[in-house]
Amino acid sequence: MTTGIGEAAPAKQELVAALSRARETTLRLVEPVDDEQLVAQVSPVMSPLVWDLAHIGWFEELWLIRRLADSEPSIERFDDLYDAFQHPRGERSRLPILTPPEARAYLESVHRDAVRVLENMRFDDSDPLLRDGYVYGLVLQHELQHQETMLQTLQLSGSAYATPAHDDLKAPPKPEDVLVPAGPFTFGTSEQPWAYDNEQPAHVVDLPAFRIERLPVTNERFAEFLEDGGYRKRSYWSDDGWEWLREERVFAPLYWQQASGGWVRRRFARSEPLPPAEPVQHISFYEAEAVAAWAGKRLPTETEWEKAAQGADSGGNLGRESFGPLPVARRAASRVGCDCMLGDVWEWTSSAFTGYPGFTAFPYAEYSEVFFGDEYRVLRGGSWATDPLVARVTFRNWDYPRRRQLFSGVRLAADA
Ligand SMILES: [Fe+2]
Repeated sequence: MTTGIGEAAPAKQELVAALSRARETTLRLVEPVDDEQLVAQVSPVMSPLVWDLAHIGWFEELWLIRRLADSEPSIERFDDLYDAFQHPRGERSRLPILTPPEARAYLESVHRDAVRVLENMRFDDSDPLLRDGYVYGLVLQHELQHQETMLQTLQLSGSAYATPAHDDLKAPPKPEDVLVPAGPFTFGTSEQPWAYDNEQPAHVVDLPAFRIERLPVTNERFAEFLEDGGYRKRSYWSDDGWEWLREERVFAPLYWQQASGGWVRRRFARSEPLPPAEPVQHISFYEAEAVAAWAGKRLPTETEWEKAAQGADSGGNLGRESFGPLPVARRAASRVGCDCMLGDVWEWTSSAFTGYPGFTAFPYAEYSEVFFGDEYRVLRGGSWATDPLVARVTFRNWDYPRRRQLFSGVRLAADA
């Protein structure tokens, strides 16, 4: 990926334009949402949308104003209210947070001040925060990633949101494997100027040959698994997965419903017949494992996934406009011949989230390091809701294996 900014000394104008563009998209996203919906606690796993809004401003103030201009917080209590580590998402609507008009005004004033600091900035390459405009990349990506989080909340709430119809009912192609030959490759990056600490440093990994499917698992194939008794057959599920399934009484992907003519899924406010050729989305890690077991396959490790994805840098279904995955096709193609590697749905991998050899936390341990361990699984590839600036082959997302409000799907792999 090229940021278009990071390769040379960052041009201030481009940074200002990127910050303004990100902010316009954030505001456009919540424009059709009324104040009552903005303050609603839709689910214990999501923040009220108005919290996300002010938190975006708080993060921008922290890094682009307070750190860079060495200034005091504009409002002291925001460090408690809007630091994501202070209060769990499910409690945030009960905090004395800003109202929607106050949050909008705060965003506007922070943006204005951040631009003023930027205009007076002397870019000093000896400061790692400023090298290649890193701290601007951090704040921009943070805002763009929150846009995806906010879309998860809007989807959960069933918000009456104007989205394009997804009514293509053509059948998907038959599943097909790609053989990735044995050999070393460069895993992670030391070159992408705006890559996060957890993607670094680049290191060579030698993998045995493996097989991976050309396309993510489609709705049609997932429905076959389901109708074949996939949710009832114990042997497809891990112990944790089986416990989750019974506890939560899960019998289909989130937002699927059985109707007289077949399966229907809700996408924002629309209920539509399941488009067979779209990648399945809103499945947990456990469901991803189970469909793989049913197919006689397994999940790829994140190392395998990244090796298979190399070269898939453009043309993915990204950037929110489609408001859902699109029927699988030849797009975001990798060098080994996989398609849809970036965009459409995040793909669960079998890997726990850990630091690469030589990992150094930067610019703060709370970005990634505090999440390292066995609790989380890595997802790769971005979704239709991920911004192209964030979606890159080396980017690592992580979440609890039980979560499925994410725009998450799966691609199957096997030993060679
Ligand atoms: Fe955040």
